[in-house]
Amino acid sequence: MGVERHVVSPGEDFHRTYSAAQIDAIADAIEERGEFPYELTYLGDGSELWRAGEAQSGMETLPERHAGALLALAPPSSPVRIVDLGPGTTRPVRGLIRHFLDASRLAGYRGIDISAEILDLAGEALRADFPEQRFELCQGDFTGPGLARVLPAEPDAARLVVLAGGTAYNVPDPDRLLRRVRAVMNDHDVLLLTLRIDTGVDRPPFMDKISVGGPYKPQQLMGLDLLGIDRSWYVTETGFDPVRSEVFVRVRFAEPVAVAFGARTVSFEPGDRVLVWRYLYQDGAAVRDQLTRCGFRVRLFEHGDDRQMILAAATPSQEDQT
Ligand SMILES: C[S@@+](CC[C@H](N)C(=O)[O-])C[C@H]1O[C@@H](n2cnc3c(N)ncnc32)[C@H](O)[C@@H]1O
Repeated sequence: MGVERHVVSPGEDFHRTYSAAQIDAIADAIEERGEFPYELTYLGDGSELWRAGEAQSGMETLPERHAGALLALAPPSSPVRIVDLGPGTTRPVRGLIRHFLDASRLAGYRGIDISAEILDLAGEALRADFPEQRFELCQGDFTGPGLARVLPAEPDAARLVVLAGGTAYNVPDPDRLLRRVRAVMNDHDVLLLTLRIDTGVDRPPFMDKISVGGPYKPQQLMGLDLLGIDRSWYVTETGFDPVRSEVFVRVRFAEPVAVAFGARTVSFEPGDRVLVWRYLYQDGAAVRDQLTRCGFRVRLFEHGDDRQMILAAATPSQEDQT
């Protein structure tokens, strides 16, 4: 006799955290591509989990360290607006804002984040460091119409478009995101990425062999927790997909489960998998190639002290990338 199916319906926390459209997007992503959309784990209590996991240190960030070189990529004496896609707590950019203000070159700061709670954290941190300044924080999805909204045509300022902390590499199709960002940038704008690359040293063991049971971070399982899926009904698998150059955390069901989203039910059989986190993990040369094929010319490429964190700055290239 088989194991009886667990039937759950997401509770109050889930409905408080997500809109009806987001709930549909979650059910679609699980059914169509076997994935819980990771960006939605930053909403609600996920923001606190993320803040708790973020490195807390007063250390100089890479953008701050290279603020002078970044400013030099904008047209001379032009004011620069920082447009931060997924600001988190704004930790990577506050030193940069300070530098641009001191140089009298800051036209403004605008951040867009999918999570209202993350935006509260961002606002708090910005007010604490810059009590005199008024900055813009908008809630929205930068993979959708939110991108054009935060990057309208702006003839009087150059924009420094920031995707910090590997944010560009958690999405299923980073090339598509980079091309869309390129399409709304002006010729004198600058793209800034910070991310972790594969240097070939200190490679975690799960890159050779999938690790069952870890490592993973609590927020990577938060979406499934909110759905009411008990952690004892699946095992986690952390690994590396060499075809996609992606590190992933996914769950593999050990028991049959059905999740009832109102009228819609999504079922999992033993052996079914759901991806809960992905990260494009590639070497420096691949990062450069990617920027080039997505319509950029790499202007700065700097390593952090541990060699794995890098800062890449790029300007739109003139060649047609179609
Ligand atoms: C990995 S954190 C990085 C935060 C910050 N840039 C840093 O480096 O510390 C990703 C951030 O992007 C936001 N985010 C992820 N996907 C998003 C999307 N599609 N639209 C808007 N914000 C998104 C998350 O809510 C979170 O604040």
